[in-house]
Amino acid sequence: MSEYLLEMKNICKSFPGVKALQGVDFQLKAGEVHALLGENGAGKSTLIKVLGGIYHPEEGQIFINGRETAITSVNRARDNGISIIHQELVLVPHMTVAENIFLGREPVGKFGINYVRMGREAQKMLDTFDLGISAESLIADLSIAQQQLVEIVKAISFNCRILVMDEPTSSISDKEVEHLFEIMRDLVSKGVGIIYISHKMSELNIVCDRVSVLRDGMYVGTCVVSETPRDILINMMVGRELNRYYTRDHVKSSEVVLKCKNLDDAKKRLKRVDHVSFEVRKGEIVGFAGLVGAGRSETMHCLFGLTRGSTGEVYIEGKRVQINSAVDAMRHGISLVPEDRKLEGLYHLQSVRFNSTIEVLHEFISHLRVNEEREAEITQQFIDKMHTKTPSQYQTVTNLSGGNQQKVMIGRWLATSPKLLILDEPTRGVDVGAKAEIYEIMNELTKQGVSIIMISSELPEIINMADRVYVMCEGKVTGCIDYEDLSQEAIMKLATLETVGGQNNG
Ligand SMILES: Nc1ncnc2c1ncn2[C@@H]1O[C@H](COP(=O)(O)OP(=O)(O)OP(=O)(O)O)[C@@H](O)[C@H]1O
Ligand SMILES: [Mg+2]
Repeated sequence: MSEYLLEMKNICKSFPGVKALQGVDFQLKAGEVHALLGENGAGKSTLIKVLGGIYHPEEGQIFINGRETAITSVNRARDNGISIIHQELVLVPHMTVAENIFLGREPVGKFGINYVRMGREAQKMLDTFDLGISAESLIADLSIAQQQLVEIVKAISFNCRILVMDEPTSSISDKEVEHLFEIMRDLVSKGVGIIYISHKMSELNIVCDRVSVLRDGMYVGTCVVSETPRDILINMMVGRELNRYYTRDHVKSSEVVLKCKNLDDAKKRLKRVDHVSFEVRKGEIVGFAGLVGAGRSETMHCLFGLTRGSTGEVYIEGKRVQINSAVDAMRHGISLVPEDRKLEGLYHLQSVRFNSTIEVLHEFISHLRVNEEREAEITQQFIDKMHTKTPSQYQTVTNLSGGNQQKVMIGRWLATSPKLLILDEPTRGVDVGAKAEIYEIMNELTKQGVSIIMISSELPEIINMADRVYVMCEGKVTGCIDYEDLSQEAIMKLATLETVGGQNNG
């Protein structure tokens, strides 16, 4: 019997213009959580997709329990006990939660699919997770966080020996993360081996035993987490030391740029935004904190004119304005980088260049001709500024790694030179080096007088970057904290104000 549950040897995989994996080795023991670290584009997801039978490597071997195994398809992977939570959600939106969990292996009775049993079993799984999600809900009606939770439940519901989680916690809140960690510990105690990919370095010490690092498609090394200081890991990942992580020169500004009074999504049944008022001053970073589902993104959608029938008053530089669409919002100098790049953000089948300049294209079209030089220049400017990893401006966005897609999207909205920039989870899925860069860019923008609203579920990020933080809970603002008084406890207290003893509707 081999010492390893899984061994990947000398894996090589190329795409046109990109050597994604160059002779990568990886070993997983039964009963361990093994973190896979690396910058955006390092090759983590590609390695996982090779293991999952989605990509076929040009070279390399895979051994399971010491026996060489050809994983030629997704089904072969599953037959070998491999279950994967992919980085990009792959649920079917117009089907129910239960149907998604049982997709392809629906319980069948005399009269076809036994929906009652399917619903009941799915509900049971959801309940062990204590999610407050109904098995009968349509995926499309769930928030991104809830969808991510359904993915997790689905992956675990297979009796797997090897579980891979590619950034499972990127959009769920601390409470759910803790729950996930408990489940991981339980699985590991039963001998499952878990491969865990995350850009949240703080999670490493909590759940991971060992860590392997990839850089530019190459294997760098493997360490025991508890014996390895964080700087060493960062150094392995980025190949240099990162001297400053958060960059923020706090401001105390009095000039109010935006004032919102009683924003309300006016939906009777499932209210997400309930008379929300706040203001943003010039050059400020205003944080919005709260648990998943607290209504932060929805509030910004109301402000940005995306929620039909929403009510409330918006004042920009003291003047009352009417914002009924994203175009109106942009005309008033507001830009929004949405949370979900897949659904709301990127044109996935278009190039990096197209995606970078689509919002500002009108500026350099004259006489029906696009000034291509200018377009190329702007695109390159943001590729350089964000250190976006792409073989060229013409690369299709869907072929970029997750973190690099996020960089393209932020770059696009920076190109519009907004007065007020709304960032919804801007560093989701972004590596440590790029995070530091995004923070630096945010700080720089505020120095130029731009105001920023940042929604974030990562408390350290909110605490270190924001000048003031509004905390929301169940659609209402429960408080506002100045940066001097910011702490995780202060935020969590306001974020959970009403849920104590209250109803739980996810
Ligand atoms: N289908 C594809 N076609 C072309 N290039 C690809 C494809 N998939 C991945 N790549 C490229 O391979 C490299 C590795 O990408 P991968 O998605 O594995 O990175 P990652 O480590 O998962 O990054 P992230 O942390 O951003 O998710 C990147 O340069 C990416 O652009
Ligand atoms: Mg990835």
